[in-house]
Amino acid sequence: MTPYGVPRVACSKRVQMAARIILIAALLALASSRALAFDPSPLQDFCVADYDSKVSVNGFACMNAKDVTVDDFYFTGLDKAASTSNELGANITLVNVERLPGLNTLGVAMSRIDYAPFGLNPPHSHPRSSEILHVAEGTLYAGFVTSNTAQGNLLFAKKLNKGDAFVFPRGLVHFQFNNGDIPAVAFATFGSQSPGLVTAANALFGSKPPIPDYILARPAQLSKTTVDWLQEQQWLDIAQENGPPSVQAN
Ligand SMILES: *[C@@H]1O[C@H](CO)[C@@H](O)[C@H](O)[C@H]1NC(C)=O
Repeated sequence: MTPYGVPRVACSKRVQMAARIILIAALLALASSRALAFDPSPLQDFCVADYDSKVSVNGFACMNAKDVTVDDFYFTGLDKAASTSNELGANITLVNVERLPGLNTLGVAMSRIDYAPFGLNPPHSHPRSSEILHVAEGTLYAGFVTSNTAQGNLLFAKKLNKGDAFVFPRGLVHFQFNNGDIPAVAFATFGSQSPGLVTAANALFGSKPPIPDYILARPAQLSKTTVDWLQEQQWLDIAQENGPPSVQAN
């Protein structure tokens, strides 16, 4: 018997039971944190990105809080149309953590997208974020394609008018096309400080170094000559940063 009158056997059983409960709780916590694996939650009010830090972390290290100023949370110029004089007729002004240091650890970002008449934001995906798009001017034909389901890759696409919003689920290939003869403007909001961008055609045909042509020819049902020709083309990235701080996340 222990000093408290509890038999030792019962005590060790209780310890075993407690250990089991802790293990199950830990596994559940792990499973749910995987299921909710978006940007991690902040552990403080803010953690303004210190672009000069040599510390390698997931995102950017925090600037010393006493050096933080209001301008670390501020971005201007989203009232201005970016030039759409390029072969796609579109231009994206991205406001992510690389451009706005105060976004670090906050799990949000946005962009302004300008479309010339019949301009196209080509099929692409954001590996780290869903997106909600608001049409501020003009009309767009926008849509996304599901992953490989039993019914195939399903297209969900629709004509959007000024004042409409549309959601692109995280990681799925999506696009917007200005189907009108006047310029269009949209604003996108993301659930990540750095949603990431994979432009489908650029990733397949514009990689450096190129993917071997026999790897692309069979799945794309193209001849190797066509693949070679595609790989020789310039693959435009219309989401290039076009303002101040242009730095890479660790
Ligand atoms: C996007 O717009 C900016 C600002 O007008 C311009 O400097 C940049 O060259 C444009 N990018 C493309 C790809 O057209």
